[in-house]
Amino acid sequence: MVRNYFQLRGAFFYAAKSISLLIAFITLFTPSSFAADPAPGAHAIATAHPVATAAGQKILAQGGNAFDAAVAISATLAVVEPYGSGLGGGGFWLLHRAKDRFEVMIDGREQAPAAAHRDMYLDEAGNAIGHLSLNGPLAAAIPGEPAALAHIAEKYGNLPLRQSLAPAIQAAEKGFVVDEHYIKRARFRLEVMQSDPETAAIFLQNGQLPKPGYRIIQKDLANTLKQMAAKGRAGFYEGVVAQTLVREVRRAGGIWSEADLKNYRVIERQPVTGEYHGTRITSAAPPSSGGIALITMLNVLAQYPLEQLPEATHTHLIVEAMRRAYRDRAQYLGDPDFIDIPVERLTHPFYAAGLSASIRTDRATRSAELPGYHLNQRGHHTTHFSVMDGEGNRVAATLSINYPFGAAFTPKGTGVLLNDEMDDFSAKPGTPNAYGLVGAEANAIAPGKRPLSSMTPTFLESDAGVAVLGTPGGSRIITMVLLGILEFSADKSVLDVVSRARFHHQFLPDAIQFEPNALSESLQKELQQLGHHLKPMTRRYGNMQAVHWNKRSNTLSAASDPRGGGEAIVLPE
Ligand code: GLY
Repeated sequence: MVRNYFQLRGAFFYAAKSISLLIAFITLFTPSSFAADPAPGAHAIATAHPVATAAGQKILAQGGNAFDAAVAISATLAVVEPYGSGLGGGGFWLLHRAKDRFEVMIDGREQAPAAAHRDMYLDEAGNAIGHLSLNGPLAAAIPGEPAALAHIAEKYGNLPLRQSLAPAIQAAEKGFVVDEHYIKRARFRLEVMQSDPETAAIFLQNGQLPKPGYRIIQKDLANTLKQMAAKGRAGFYEGVVAQTLVREVRRAGGIWSEADLKNYRVIERQPVTGEYHGTRITSAAPPSSGGIALITMLNVLAQYPLEQLPEATHTHLIVEAMRRAYRDRAQYLGDPDFIDIPVERLTHPFYAAGLSASIRTDRATRSAELPGYHLNQRGHHTTHFSVMDGEGNRVAATLSINYPFGAAFTPKGTGVLLNDEMDDFSAKPGTPNAYGLVGAEANAIAPGKRPLSSMTPTFLESDAGVAVLGTPGGSRIITMVLLGILEFSADKSVLDVVSRARFHHQFLPDAIQFEPNALSESLQKELQQLGHHLKPMTRRYGNMQAVHWNKRSNTLSAASDPRGGGEAIVLPE
């Protein structure tokens, strides 16, 4: 049997401010008896911060694989992008192991403490008290990221955890310089950050918004990372770090116990899969809603010759697919260990055919015509990175502490900024939370339950190539990934994919939200004539990180969203 193997022959780099795109040309080397799958023969990394990209690069250079690089990048993002993710948060790591094509989603999502209860954020009249699930220790679920990093290193990595954590420890000790993205998010959360002395001391400058160029050093976080480096997951979930976390959380009114930390477990879940025009889609499983909603939308769109349709019809159909998938998201999805989710049905092409039956090409459906729930979650939080190594191992990881700077509460002495992921539950099923998000019973609070997420780390694979992508952005994550997939499907470059102007519909509010320049004036008029409501946005959103291996041209490329300050690189193996 002839098997392909690839070797890096040459490379050229292209880079621009806030965008890094580095392309390596890889040439067919020699048929031989190597791996069953062809391999890119070069590494590609795209993350939201240059220091995190450098951490991944360093670990790959030390003989690490994509999984080791993912551990290093995640831990470093926890240091240099504290508003997006961290040891006090969680996430989903989608892994593909090249040697046996094994795919798994590492569910390191936070979970509600044992003392949590359904009505914990309601006042005596039964109304939701929004700030309790957003700010301070009562908003924090039990973190999953430290356990996920230890698990990935132990089970999938080539290198010991301590080696993969070293770049993060160094970044925490040496410090990092704040940029415009940091300052923007700190401004958004300034008041609540100022209300916790520890958070203010670490993440603000003399209690005020840091000035550009200010260096943030995190000695306590470095020490917590060192505990993990020495003791693995026990370095965080047991012993001195765990005791301090629990003591400080409870002192400030929280409900964590040492048993909550000790009992936290990473869960390996089978990813959600589907197909779109011959491309296999692999994406996040529940408790993320991302994969299911994505496959539903693609199944609906696969029934139309999208590329041949006039632009208004094309956009209208995408919006109608979004509307229906987001309606289902709120109705059916939550933690699969607590509720039954009809994954097979929701991702089946026949189900999508049923949804399409209600779509008219000559007018917009009113969301009120469909039964369902109100969803209005915005977000400028969370982070995503994509990695592929020379053997073809790959990781798409979307990580979060929810709101920018999470709950803005840092247990003294740990350096661990806690998440406010409890707000992703439906505090009162049927009633909007602080984001205006309303969910169903499926996502009600329960002890040990994981809140519903929109995070959508995704792989695409076809004979033509392999792509790894994802983005932060709250409830808009799923539609951003959808638009990215449609760009890949139209043979656009990875830079076009991450740069694409975006629009979004999430069932309710019943309006198309769109970035400046996403819809031309004439297209806006045509969509209004079809009956769509338009809601122009003043700012761009998302921070997509993608890598792409074009098998036909043997080209590996990577791109970081121009909206953010990330960096993408391609490296010789
Ligand atoms: N906290 C954002 C999400 O999980 O969707």
